[in-house]
Amino acid sequence: MNTTAAGEIILDIRHLSTVFKTDEGRLPAVTDVSFSLGKGRTLGLVGESGCGKTVTALSIMRLLPQPAGQIVAGRILFDQMDLVRLPADRMRRVRGGRIAMIFQEPMTALNPVQPIGRQLREMFLLHAGGLSPAAMRRRCIDLLQRVGIPEAQRRLEDYPHQISGGMRQRVMIAMALSVAPEILIADEPTTALDVTVQAQILALIDDLQQAEGMSMIFITHDLGVIAEICDDVVVMYAGQVVEMASVTRLFRTPRHPYTQGLLASIPRLEHPAKSRLETIPGMVPGLAEMPAGCRFINRCPHAFLDCKTPPPLVDLGDGHSARCFLYGSGRESGA
Ligand SMILES: Nc1ncnc2c1ncn2[C@@H]1O[C@H](COP(=O)(O)OP(=O)(O)O)[C@@H](O)[C@H]1O
Ligand SMILES: [Mg+2]
Repeated sequence: MNTTAAGEIILDIRHLSTVFKTDEGRLPAVTDVSFSLGKGRTLGLVGESGCGKTVTALSIMRLLPQPAGQIVAGRILFDQMDLVRLPADRMRRVRGGRIAMIFQEPMTALNPVQPIGRQLREMFLLHAGGLSPAAMRRRCIDLLQRVGIPEAQRRLEDYPHQISGGMRQRVMIAMALSVAPEILIADEPTTALDVTVQAQILALIDDLQQAEGMSMIFITHDLGVIAEICDDVVVMYAGQVVEMASVTRLFRTPRHPYTQGLLASIPRLEHPAKSRLETIPGMVPGLAEMPAGCRFINRCPHAFLDCKTPPPLVDLGDGHSARCFLYGSGRESGA
């Protein structure tokens, strides 16, 4: 965790809206999402499955499934560029070297029919061409060692299916780091792993983030994980930002009823992890059935008449905001 105060902003997402074009029409996966990532900081993007976290990340990377996924509004500012409008070839360069992403299931990103060493070498060739084969091999081994892979030299010859899920995720992290990115987007990188390995991978990511001074967006459905490694949190529900704050503030004074429900559902020893939120009955609405007002209305223990109109994000001060009428209409703060 990085404790420096919020300073320079490295990635600024403003009013991002992304839709999927389907037979049912244009379905809103991400609606008017704004947040910024501070340089050297770790921002947690949290919400239940289906809330738009991955679509937000894929929008930033411009890796939305084509042709269905489309960014229809907003800007994504990075180093004086707007990634939404960047020509494809320049975007490829950003993706290949400056912003990297790791996914929940490394098997989908690794090539099953190539040894690990060869895949790592190809990453290096793309980004650090001109190394001799011996130097390249040395770099690959170094990298595998840095992500905690034992007997790295021998692992170079292994195929992805020959190593464990935890080791595959380490290889993915190594590949992401091989390009020395300024921003790492980690999309539920530990969700598919068992609890002990999860903790090891989290610790590894946290260490590397600090050692490299990278900025990071860490995506998870588990607020407990956020507490361990993040500085700032953005809570998403049904494609919208419903609350954001520093980690300390969010855990101390959660304002949105959804965040309160997520917090109450953090697995503890005496009540083990469940896949659904037991503290908030119901489910995230599908894209074709979004309520017109507050999207949380059907699950909210506090819903009242006003909630039939869409609540604005209300500024609560100190970088804390919540999309909820319990905290006023937001008009007085200009939000
Ligand atoms: N290719 C797609 N076509 C249509 N809808 C999609 C597609 N991918 C994702 N969605 C929908 O977009 C919403 C957000 O999905 P996603 O970003 O993957 O959620 P999260 O990562 O928070 O679990 C969900 O309702 C999901 O069903
Ligand atoms: Mg996802």
